[in-house]
Amino acid sequence: MYARIASTGAALPDNVVTNADLEKIVDTTDEWIRDRTGIRERCVALEGQTTADLAEQAARIALQDSGIAPSEIDLLIVGTTTPDLVFPSTACLIQQRLGLGECGAFDVNAACCGFIYALSIATQFIQAGTASKILVVGAETLTRMVDWTDRGTCVLFGEGAGAAVLVADREPGVLSTHIHANGGYGDLLNVDVGVSRGFRPEPRGGLTIKMKGSEVFKVAVNTLGRIVDETLAHNNLSKQDVDWLIPHQANLRIIKATAKKLDMPMDRVIVTVDRHGNTSSASVPMALDEAIRSGRVQRGELLLLEAFGGGFTWGAALVRY
Ligand code: ACO
Repeated sequence: MYARIASTGAALPDNVVTNADLEKIVDTTDEWIRDRTGIRERCVALEGQTTADLAEQAARIALQDSGIAPSEIDLLIVGTTTPDLVFPSTACLIQQRLGLGECGAFDVNAACCGFIYALSIATQFIQAGTASKILVVGAETLTRMVDWTDRGTCVLFGEGAGAAVLVADREPGVLSTHIHANGGYGDLLNVDVGVSRGFRPEPRGGLTIKMKGSEVFKVAVNTLGRIVDETLAHNNLSKQDVDWLIPHQANLRIIKATAKKLDMPMDRVIVTVDRHGNTSSASVPMALDEAIRSGRVQRGELLLLEAFGGGFTWGAALVRY
């Protein structure tokens, strides 16, 4: 039994923040941001707009397009690092709003790898035969943890949500998923406050993303190269078999390095980072949704999804769409 992607959905806040807007608040330039990251603009949630709001919107679209009634969904998994509340989880919040009934619902925190982790878990449930219709969401409001005076990080992030409905099917389907983590790299990228450790007497209690960008960059390129090899080897496939690369959208240079590793021309790579920035868990499902809706990705094609994020966490999924 395979987990097949039946439908997808995505949601972005209306509030677009361009590089020119950021030039007004930190010492940066549009040219620097575009050269180093590929980002031109990102969407920032409006006052009061939350991760659950975006997750709900994306999930509604995916559900509607699947033709599956909300009450038929038997598991909901939300990848997020920026939940509305400590609890109830974002999954519980949107379960109720979407009218899903009393299915299992939980969040997964794997930073930017949240959707890949959630997809991997969902796939195991379907393969084990314990669930047959699963709603998987990646949703974030990452700029809520951005220090708008730190030019090294504030130019990078944006918000959004993406969703997919997975169904059990004898036709492939997700062929394999691969998830990894190495907690030894926690110092290079983190938000170093929390419920148990406590908060600091700073704005928002010190809830701020801290990143040693160039060091993260090197590990990301190397690690994503390795996960591509692992995924292809596991499936006895070669680079030429992959039709589309759907990568996490952190930095265009990292995306290009992974495409090069796959000998893949950039017109076979889905890029949204220019308009979305880094939306963490939301980036892969939003890129997937855009690729499908634009008609580029067709049924039967082979997709390689991958992500890398804080933890460090990284992972990939090979999907016959
Ligand atoms: N505008 C202008 N100059 C800047 C800016 C800016 N916005 N930000 C940094 N600089 C300066 C630095 O101060 C530095 O100046 P110096 O040489 O005088 O000291 C110079 O630019 C170079 O800085 P680097 O950090 O070395 O720049 P780099 O080329 O590495 O690009 C970037 C930085 C874009 C952050 C890159 O390293 C990157 O993308 N890293 C990986 C990010 C990532 O993948 N994160 C993982 C996922 S995120 C998650 O999980 C939440």
